[in-house]
Amino acid sequence: MTDKSYWNDTEHGLRKVELRAAGFNPDDAAKRHPVVTIASPYTNAHRCNNRVQQIAELIIDALEQRGGQGLLVGAPAVSDALTQGTANAGYSLVSRDLMADCFETGHFAHHAQAMIVISGCDKTGAAAMMPLARTNAPGLVVYPGTSSPGAVNFSPWAEKGDNLTILDYAEGAAAHEAGKIGAIELQQLEKSVMPGSGTCGAMFTANTMSCITEAMGMMLARGASHTADYHADSEIHDDVKTQALASIDALYSLLDNGLRPRDIMTRAAFENAITVAYAMGGSTNMYLHLLAIARDAQVPLTIEDIQAIGERVPLIANLQPHGPFSMKTLHEVGGVPVVMKELLNHGLLHADALTVSGKTIADNLADTPELKDLTRKDVVLSVTKPIAAANNHISVLSGNIAPESCVLKLGGKTIEHGEFRGPARVFDSETEAMNAIRDDDIVAGDVIVVRRVGPVGAPGMPEMVHLTIQLQGRGLGKDVALITDGRFSGVSHGILIGHISPEAARGGPIGLVRDGDTVVINPLDRTLNVELSDAELSARANEQQPHTTDNSIQPGTVLDKYRRLVSSAHYGCVQ
Ligand code: FES
Repeated sequence: MTDKSYWNDTEHGLRKVELRAAGFNPDDAAKRHPVVTIASPYTNAHRCNNRVQQIAELIIDALEQRGGQGLLVGAPAVSDALTQGTANAGYSLVSRDLMADCFETGHFAHHAQAMIVISGCDKTGAAAMMPLARTNAPGLVVYPGTSSPGAVNFSPWAEKGDNLTILDYAEGAAAHEAGKIGAIELQQLEKSVMPGSGTCGAMFTANTMSCITEAMGMMLARGASHTADYHADSEIHDDVKTQALASIDALYSLLDNGLRPRDIMTRAAFENAITVAYAMGGSTNMYLHLLAIARDAQVPLTIEDIQAIGERVPLIANLQPHGPFSMKTLHEVGGVPVVMKELLNHGLLHADALTVSGKTIADNLADTPELKDLTRKDVVLSVTKPIAAANNHISVLSGNIAPESCVLKLGGKTIEHGEFRGPARVFDSETEAMNAIRDDDIVAGDVIVVRRVGPVGAPGMPEMVHLTIQLQGRGLGKDVALITDGRFSGVSHGILIGHISPEAARGGPIGLVRDGDTVVINPLDRTLNVELSDAELSARANEQQPHTTDNSIQPGTVLDKYRRLVSSAHYGCVQ
């Protein structure tokens, strides 16, 4: 920031009259160094972030013992699980930028010299790196942890062992609704899948972002995969405590060495993060978040760059939603470093990228075991014998429905005959699409089109996860495609295309598709098209009424500001 102040920042921020009134010992607090922003998206409202306060207190106490001072800055953490499928779902993506703004604001307003961000639920994970990149204050991310998995003794879930997550409950609920399992089985799933706090427990969006943070070097090694606790009534997990305390050591070392986030969040670091996310089968939300973080880190990065880097990378982590295992199982075999070591050994990572440990990726991984030395060989597979070949998990497509771009999620599966072709079933809201699925009005071969649910249209680009769960629960996951200008949850799997840009509410051609039009998805060509001539699309565009502003959004609200400022998904929905 430009220095326009006549006060020394620290003197001003720690003036004794203010400190005394706020309950600090003024003589002691005025001398403390460093002043560290503890960016704390705490809430007791949901299990993803309800441990953040305990971690923040642990860090503040530890800093105090070393002569520093931790100052809390809060932010509204939104749980996707609590908002998906509701009228408030738009607040989820909106909260990413809101949280980053809160942390940036508090950091500068409190005149802090460093920053530790505690992450959590999906958007919190993205929002963790944005203020570090923006402020460039020495700092790093601490992850509160993922939820422990559970187990049941009936098929098909018994076969997964101790690896059940929220995905299993969600699909069980849909299977129950479709009459495939009974109420007792559903209750057993409900009681078993999440015995404690933490984020959704496999390679869903929160863990995608924690893995990206570790791979980018902004979190200590093995910090992305631990469980949050032992059970709902227990203390935070010892691994979380260890990470939090080690992160303070790392912070002092970053300060001593003058190492700042943008020294670490370089183009090479982004390429490493993208490579790891593709290798682990990350959530499609990563496209939005990587673009937003790169903007804040001042690293030129486009969605085409992400595709070009990712398409070299096979899928090797056998985690849900594409595989059977939970994050805890990955942690037990060594966590993200095991994946990174395999990628490094095959020349897929930049070995010399710096990390918050002050060392390079190669140095950090020097003692990580090779895959051949692991007892379990089914959790992380080799690059040479992967779960799916490169370019078979997520990729960026375009076509006459998505002139800018869209993202495809296949979860390591391949589409039979190389393409999916089917009649469009068009809906202008998630609710209308849900009603059609529940009425058994969607059949194998259909392409569900859900539009007007983009960043402007919804507003806030909600996740169509309950539609994908219904399709999976009804056994239609492999036979029905779903395309949308909205988003998907990391939990979603099937034949899915989201982030269609430009969105319908901004005049994108997805708004021109009609019931019965033939939609063609071709993963190999990376295209999404409707079989209509340019002349027909132009004629429809001329006939179409211009999109009108949704008057139900109250002027001045966060959603109102968001829809006026937000860019398309093609640019990461940055403001
Ligand atoms: Fe918070 Fe899934 S709902 S991580």
